Parts: sequence; structure tokens; C-alpha cells
Amino acid sequence: MRKITVIGAGNVGATCANVIAHKDLAREVVLVDIKEGVAEGKALDIWQTSSINNFNTRVTGVTNDYLKTRGSSIVVITSGLPRKPGMSRDDLIKTNAVIVKEVTEKVIKYSPEAIIIVVSNPLDVMTYAAYKAARKHSSRVFGMAGILDTGRYKAFLADALDVSPKDIHSLLLGGHGDTMVPLPRFTSVAGIPVTDMLNKEEIDKIVDRTKKGGGELVNLMGTSAWYAPGAAAAQMVEAIVDDQKRIFPVCTLLKGEYGLKDVYMGVPVKLGAAGIEEIIELNLNKQEQKMLEDSANSVKSVMKVLDDMNLFED
Ligand code: NAI
Ligand code: 2OP
Repeated sequence: MRKITVIGAGNVGATCANVIAHKDLAREVVLVDIKEGVAEGKALDIWQTSSINNFNTRVTGVTNDYLKTRGSSIVVITSGLPRKPGMSRDDLIKTNAVIVKEVTEKVIKYSPEAIIIVVSNPLDVMTYAAYKAARKHSSRVFGMAGILDTGRYKAFLADALDVSPKDIHSLLLGGHGDTMVPLPRFTSVAGIPVTDMLNKEEIDKIVDRTKKGGGELVNLMGTSAWYAPGAAAAQMVEAIVDDQKRIFPVCTLLKGEYGLKDVYMGVPVKLGAAGIEEIIELNLNKQEQKMLEDSANSVKSVMKVLDDMNLFED
């Protein structure tokens, strides 16, 4: 009798709830928002697709009523401001940190056992904020970005190669920002190394477009993306509820892996019923390791902004 809560019924939260319902991943999805009526309305709209799309997952919406989220096994946090043109993900930190702290504390009160998946930006640091607020083991508080970023990378590769995106496998490391590290050396098309199929210049172009993939959409739409982010968060929910033990890039707390400590950032993990069941360490070359360390330093500088806000008692 599984209940899943999605906090923030905006573009990403509503899309995530919609995908979870379509896939029948739970008995109930509860959408929570602070704007009166928004979560209720979107939940009702999604629920009214149940007979059309053939699912049973009951979708309900509430305005700030955390009692209704009681007993959730997974909580997806999408509340906060999205990125607007000219705004970096890091510009969002001050506002979104206060929101993420507040909603994490409220939801944990009614669902102390829940696994928490953070989506709000700046992603790596908001995941750290939720970890501080939830006071849980880091294997149960982690963030979604790598599935989205590899989703973009795979879409661009599928276009360039004129192949199905289903046949592309890839990995990506680092923070969810311009310093992310897509890994062509760990990218294959039905087992064929992508480096045998495209030349360096073509791959570099795709890597660069992937790094700027979020900004490309912000510039097109005036706000950030939601279909791929919502579906990516739902894919993490699916891996957990079905104990799939999928290998995904996920934002997690590093405790010495890759030579890095006390930093939340994306690395490949095994995702199953217990949350992050294993952090997988790749054999990186010098250049990849250096890019990862640069990304870690960039994330750490934003984590320091959060620490300097003194929002959390130690
Ligand atoms: P949105 O503006 O459409 O939705 C955000 C919702 O959060 C709004 O409905 C708002 O009322 C609600 N909210 C604000 N404070 C709240 C609170 N205290 N309690 C409950 N609800 C609250 O924004 P969108 O596009 O859904 O993006 C949500 C977040 O996800 C943003 O921070 C965005 O930057 C981030 N994002 C992260 C991605 C990733 O890869 N990790 C990808 C795309 C977006
Ligand atoms: C994205 O990558 C802005 O983080 C958001 O679409």
C-alpha cells in the first residue's frame, strides 16, 4: 500500500506525479503546494486521465496539508523557484534553501522512514540542504540530475548518429551545472564505443551542448524544462519501488569515493529498495579525474554559501 508524495505542484512536480500515476507505481500520489488550489486542481486533472490512460494510482492534491502525506515511502521535492533567463542555478540558492529546509522538516515529521529525492535547484546544494534537514543516512537522501543530463546527451547522440536513443548507454559525473562531466569513454551504442562512431570534434560539440542543455531550454521557453526532469525523477521512483537495482548517475554524498569527501554530486550508483545501495567508482583517467575535481570544487563553493546562511544547527 505505497504512498508517494511530490512537493511542489509546478511544472516538474506535476509532470513527475503524472508519470508516476501513468506507470501505476503507487496506491496514491499526494501533490503538495503552497498556492491554494493548484495541487488540488492538477491532481484532479491527472486523476481524470486514469480511465483514459488505464491506471489505478489515486492522485490527490493538498495546499500545505502535510498530514495528508503521512506514511509516504518516497518523497520527491520539487518546490522552489525555477531558473529564469540570465539566472544561474546558483542564483536560486538563498530562496530555495529556505523552502527545501522547511518542506523537508514538515514532510519528515509525518513520514520519518521516507526516501527523499530532491529536484529543486541548485540541485547538488539543495540535496545537501535536505540531507541536513532530514538528519537521515545519505543513502536515503539524494538528488535527480544525472538521469536528465544523460537523457539530453543521449538525445543529442541519437540525432547525430540517426539511431534509437534506446541503444545508447552513457555515464556522466559531477555537479548539475556547467562543470558536469559527460564521459564519452563510457558511452556506447549497442556496445560499440561512441568514440569509434563519431570524431572528437563531433563528440566535443555534443558534450558542450549537454553541459548547456538546461540553459538552452530556459532561453527557448523563458523558464526551465519539465517533461524530461519530471520523467527522470519518476524513473528514480520506479527503480526504488520495484527494487530494480538500476545503475544511474545520482547526486549523492561522497565520503572518500573518487578521492572526494563531504560533497554532494553526481556519480553512478545502484538504486534499489534501500535507496542508494552502492556507489560505483569508475577507473578515470587523469583528465576525467581533474574535471571531476573541478566540478567538486565548484559545488563546494556553493555548499559554503549554504553553510554561511547558518540555517542548520549542527
Ligand atoms: P514551478 O515554478 O513550475 O513550480 C514550483 C512550485 O513550487 C510552485 O508551484 C510553487 O508554488 C511551489 N512552492 C514554492 N514554495 C513552496 C513551499 N514552501 N511548499 C510547497 N510548494 C512550494 O517550477 P518547476 O519548473 O517545477 O521547477 C521546480 C524546481 O526544480 C526549480 O528549483 C527548478 O530549478 C528545479 N529543476 C531541477 C532540475 C534538475 O535537473 N534537478 C530540472 C528542472 C528543474
Ligand atoms: C535543467 O537542467 C534548469 O536544472 C534545470 O533543466
